Order: sequence, then structure tokens, then C-alpha cells
Amino acid sequence: MDINAKNLLEKLNNNHALSIDEYDYLLKHMDIDLMNVASEFARIKQRQHYGNKIFVRGLIEFTNFCRNNCYYCGIRRDNSDCERYRLSKAQILECANVGYDLGFRTVVLQGGEDFAYTDEDICEIIRAIKSSNPDMVITLSIGERSRASYEAYFNAGARRYLLRHETANPELYAKLHPQEMSWQNRMDCLQTLREIGYQVGAGFMVESPGQTTYDLAMDLKFIQDFKPDMCGIGPYISHKETPFAKETSGGADTTLFCLSLIRMIYPQILLPATTALGTVDEHGREKGILAGANVLMPNLSPTSVRSKYTLYDNKICTGEEAAECVTCLRNRVTAIGYEIVEDPGNRSGFNTN
Ligand code: 5AD
Ligand code: FES
Repeated sequence: MDINAKNLLEKLNNNHALSIDEYDYLLKHMDIDLMNVASEFARIKQRQHYGNKIFVRGLIEFTNFCRNNCYYCGIRRDNSDCERYRLSKAQILECANVGYDLGFRTVVLQGGEDFAYTDEDICEIIRAIKSSNPDMVITLSIGERSRASYEAYFNAGARRYLLRHETANPELYAKLHPQEMSWQNRMDCLQTLREIGYQVGAGFMVESPGQTTYDLAMDLKFIQDFKPDMCGIGPYISHKETPFAKETSGGADTTLFCLSLIRMIYPQILLPATTALGTVDEHGREKGILAGANVLMPNLSPTSVRSKYTLYDNKICTGEEAAECVTCLRNRVTAIGYEIVEDPGNRSGFNTN
């Protein structure tokens, strides 16, 4: 293990801040021993704020129509191979009710940027879920919208919003997205969401095509500066019907190391062990928790549409019913000494009432 890197980990653990160059140094010197030290520090921080509790969010992937054309994503507009679907309001409500009965106190309404649902449709769905389950926290993950739309959803009762920034480097952003998409707009949306009062989730792909350790270091510095309430990260995984079909997928290790660093940067953060991490490694999600993650996001979408929401190839859990995933995750989490709780799962210090 590189001794300077170990010293940097200790500095990060104590001060919760490093420079971009220091993060870059850590990433360049990552090895199994350094990963172990980082995950031990991270686990201690996680336990201080969340004990052995793991929060769960029920993911409802309600539409795979998308107006965007991100080069890495399987549901991009130009993928004519993708069989498109939209869930009706009744179907979405049914998913949320199933989720409530399974013990979920947060649902995430996630979809492509599909403007077939008007703002009023989205608001109606939010209000309907809140009226049947008042203690359900509603998270949205429906991309870039106007401030007025974000405000309308908030007034209807949504309290969290996930919008990954994808990369903190505008130049890399431009290599991963067509020109019509703007890094600045993505960042402005995150700021707007925070101003409105949402708990905000940012996030990035790890080992995306062309990404350097310096790019990842910029992501870590962004997390340090912006302090999102949540941060979703996972390895890039190629999808055969995208322009990046031939690009190499990431592995689990760099994501695991980044999870530990993020836990040290912002100990109270909500940090999911993502499906992408579970896809590249059969025990990726458990390893993610042991590296500092404290959230899992199983799927509540009807099994009939699961396999159509393929952002990347070989996505796990496309055949299992929600209840099966819940049982599976409970077993996995218990096996490593943690416990899934029935709780809205707010960021420590944040109240959704
Ligand atoms: N590999 C990994 N993650 C991906 N995402 C989209 N496509 C891929 C892929 N091929 C991630 C993006 C997006 C989130 C919903 O899924 O970060 O924000
Ligand atoms: Fe879905 Fe294990 S979590 S099958």
C-alpha cells in the first residue's frame, strides 16, 4: 500500500475534504489494501449515523420512452430495438400499494424524459399515492424539467429528486451525450431542486468510456462541494444497441472505492448500493454496503415490463417479483450483519414532513 495514499485517506477521514489532485492520487494508487482501509473508515462513519440500518426505496420504472439520446443508455431515443411502454396511473398506484404492503416507505418514480405525462398527470399520481399512503415519501427521477414543473411536483407532495450529474467534467459530459444536451443545465437543475426544498440526489457513472481518474476526482470534489443528500453511483455497463456497444464495461472495485470515499466526504449522505453494482458482481450490493453504502433500491415495476427498462445489458432482477427481491435482499443484508428497516429513510438531519 502506498503510504502517501494511506495518509491521504486519514486526512479525508478527519477533515472530509481533499483537493482534486489528492483524490486523483488516491484513485491512481488504489489497491486491495487501500480499499480495505477506506471501507473500514467508511463503515465506521456509516455506523455512527445509521447504525446497521439499511434503507430501501421501491423503484417504479413507469416509462421507458425518452426524448434524450445519451450514447451509453439502452433506452435512448434512437434505439429502435427497445420495446417502449408506459404504465397507467392505476398501474403506478398499484405498484406503490404493493410496495407499501411490502414495507417500503419511499417510492421512486423513475422514467425516461417522457413528456406524454403532463405535469398535471405527474402531480395527480403523486397526490394519489400520498392520499392512499400518507407516510410514503415520494422521490422523482424524471430528468431535466423547468423550475415551474419542479415546484408543481413539490407542491403536490414529492420530497426527493434524483438527477445524476453523470460527470462533473463538462468535457467528458460532451463525449457521453449528444450536443443538444447541456452539462450546465443539468447542474442548474440540481441547484434549482435544492432551492425548492427537495432532498437532492446527484450521481455519476464509474469507468464510463473515456473517463480518467482525474475525471472521477472531479466528481468526488463536486460531491464535497455540493453535498447532495444522496449520491447514486455504479459502473458503466455497455448496452449492445448503443453507440458505445463496443466500449468496455467497468468492474466493481473502483465503484466500491468511490463509495467509501464518498461516505468519508459526507458521512450523513444516503448512498445506494446500485443495481449496476449488483450486475457486474454477484455480491456487488453486499460489498457496496460493506464499503459504506446504506440504501438499496429494489424494483417494484410489474414483471411484464421489467426487461424493457434495460439501461445496460444483463441487468439483474428483471424476472423476479418485487416480493422475491425483497426476500432476497433481506437475506443478503442479514448475512453481512445489517438490517433492512421500514422507515422513510431520510438523510440524517433532514425531515420530510
Ligand atoms: N451503464 C451504467 N449506468 C447507466 N445509466 C444509464 N445507462 C447506463 C449504462 N449503460 C445510469 C445513468 C442514469 C441512471 C438512471 O442510470 O447514470 O442517470
Ligand atoms: Fe432481485 Fe435478488 S434482489 S433477485
